[in-house]
Amino acid sequence: MISIIDGSPKKTSNSAYFLSLLTKNLKDDYIVHKLYHEKLDDIINNIKKADTLVIAFPLYVDAPPSKLLELMEKYPNDKNLYIICNCGFLEVKHNDIAVKIMETWSNHHLLGTFKIGAGEVLGNNHLLGKILSPFFRYKMFRFSRAINKHQSISFSSSLLLTKKMYMFFANKSFKKRLENYK
Ligand SMILES: Cc1cc2nc3c(=O)[nH]c(=O)nc-3n(C[C@H](O)[C@H](O)[C@H](O)COP(=O)(O)O)c2cc1C
Repeated sequence: MISIIDGSPKKTSNSAYFLSLLTKNLKDDYIVHKLYHEKLDDIINNIKKADTLVIAFPLYVDAPPSKLLELMEKYPNDKNLYIICNCGFLEVKHNDIAVKIMETWSNHHLLGTFKIGAGEVLGNNHLLGKILSPFFRYKMFRFSRAINKHQSISFSSSLLLTKKMYMFFANKSFKKRLENYK
């Protein structure tokens, strides 16, 4: 059994979107927990029954979010671990410190990492994401396959854009969102 954790506090999160792509191709039974919306003890009891743990989370100030840190304090990992870490910046390297933190917690059980940059674009099924990251969905498929086979895997994805262009598009989209709030 696979225990899956959406580590974002948002109800509709980018992490949840990535997990929805991932679970389409999982062969084993799985349960998805929303870390911020369920009791931590119940989640931990479910993890204990699983043989694989998948955690998708947003990057918060170069680290995993606080509730995930709480889980890590309460439960020393002993499961095969796969993580999907997504950040708002374009460059995937921003996820590196958070991945190191997870690796330390994993007790040498970290089998898979997927580092995602420009999470707000790739996580929204945005047209820009589909055009500028054409292999993203295929990589997610390969990630699911690695979980099915208990294999090691390491992927990263972002947009094929310069930082300047990313800022241009981000500003445009923020303005549009603000206008909708008026
Ligand atoms: C409190 C907070 C801190 C954040 N810190 C970072 C950061 O250090 N680096 C980064 O690239 N993005 C940062 N972000 C952006 C999120 O990682 C990004 O929006 C992500 O796609 C959210 O994923 P989610 O929808 O799964 O929660 C931060 C966002 C918030 C709300």
